[in-house]
Amino acid sequence: MANVCVTGASRGIGHGFARAYLANGDTVVAAVRNPESDGVRALVDEYADRCIPVRMDVSDADSVERAAAELEAKLDTLDLLINNAGVTRPPDEERIDDIRIDDVNEVFGVNTLGPLRVSQRLFPLLRRSRSARVVMISSNAGSISSQGGGRGVPYCVSKAALNMLTKLLSFHCRAENVAIAAIHPGWVRTDMAGPGGALSVEESVSSMMKVIEKLGTDGPVYVDYRGNDMPW
Ligand SMILES: NC(=O)c1ccc[n+]([C@@H]2O[C@H](COP(=O)([O-])OP(=O)(O)OC[C@H]3O[C@@H](n4cnc5c(N)ncnc54)[C@H](OP(=O)(O)O)[C@@H]3O)[C@@H](O)[C@H]2O)c1
Repeated sequence: MANVCVTGASRGIGHGFARAYLANGDTVVAAVRNPESDGVRALVDEYADRCIPVRMDVSDADSVERAAAELEAKLDTLDLLINNAGVTRPPDEERIDDIRIDDVNEVFGVNTLGPLRVSQRLFPLLRRSRSARVVMISSNAGSISSQGGGRGVPYCVSKAALNMLTKLLSFHCRAENVAIAAIHPGWVRTDMAGPGGALSVEESVSSMMKVIEKLGTDGPVYVDYRGNDMPW
């Protein structure tokens, strides 16, 4: 059985991952901004022995440091890190003047610097696993070649940079025998995407779990929830 850490496990896709790995028999660290939230309580109520809630704001270096120290005291190793926590802003820019720099900065801090910060800080625990994997939950919004319009600058820029980060980290990871990939989860019915999404959380998560299971150190770095290559 594996030790799995999921950031943003309070709701949406992250909560789906946490629940599915717990149902699988794994130990799951639910790294969340609020361990008292309903979503986390539900996981702890059902899987008290294997769900470890940890307070972590991925945009805050001190918070990540405290959470990592707590994890190191509780776990010997980490087999899978899922950098899932993410935020967006309404893609409502009509003109270049409408792009809000503060929004770009805040979204980048969570969606891009968050996964870097968390992966770097938890790498010592990952190194102790015999088959470590790092997953970045990316988006098709981060595909530069697929872009057809100028809206959604904060989110799209953050995910494109996350893809590049994943590619760069893949060289370091390969040298340490750690598999890494950026996965587009599909259009999933969550608070972020709304009720019109094509997939339920369960459908997206179960498909991504099969992709994660097969991840190797020499496979494609940017894929969708079915494991198909994504255009950069
Ligand atoms: N849904 C889709 O169709 C879709 C498509 C492409 C990519 N994605 C990506 O999938 C991931 C999950 O999205 P979702 O749809 O499940 O969104 P969601 O329902 O809005 O959930 C977002 C999660 O991220 C957490 N979070 C936000 N900021 C955080 C921070 N600073 N530190 C720690 N946790 C933080 C939230 O925690 P709180 O409860 O504390 O707010 C929440 O658990 C994101 O990276 C998103 O970009 C989603």
